[in-house]
Amino acid sequence: MQKKNSHYSRRSFLQYLGWTAAIGTMAGAAVGSARFMFPNILYEPAKSYKIGRPQDYPEGVTFLPDKKIFLVHYGESYKALSAVCTHLGCTPNWAEQRRRFECPCHGSMFDEKGVVIAGPAPRPLPWYLVTRTASGRLSVDERRIVSFSEGLIA
Ligand code: FES
Repeated sequence: MQKKNSHYSRRSFLQYLGWTAAIGTMAGAAVGSARFMFPNILYEPAKSYKIGRPQDYPEGVTFLPDKKIFLVHYGESYKALSAVCTHLGCTPNWAEQRRRFECPCHGSMFDEKGVVIAGPAPRPLPWYLVTRTASGRLSVDERRIVSFSEGLIA
């Protein structure tokens, strides 16, 4: 008699376990399916933006970390170069002494014009169109890729 109770108890426990697993699996699948209704949304920064007045930038290369660009200012020329390595997206550093951009991740190097001179980067760093607004501020448009020679002449 005791053996029979033990048998039912084990059977009940296994049934409980089975139902719990089945319901848990279905609930997980339902939650996963419902999650598709609310996709993650990436709010990317605007692709066209103002970066201040020309006099805000000294001669040379200035890194704008929030925009991930280098503002390159020589003489009357203002140019914007992407600060996103074309290999895997790290941020290259401007090496003033060596006059080149050096990516710390895998060793890619770009010359002053953004051209790849070493490393695994497959493409040069792109230059973005820089214009001056009616109020005299510099504006960068990342949707407009320009050549090195097309900097803004202020
Ligand atoms: S991310 Fe720059 S070299 Fe790999």
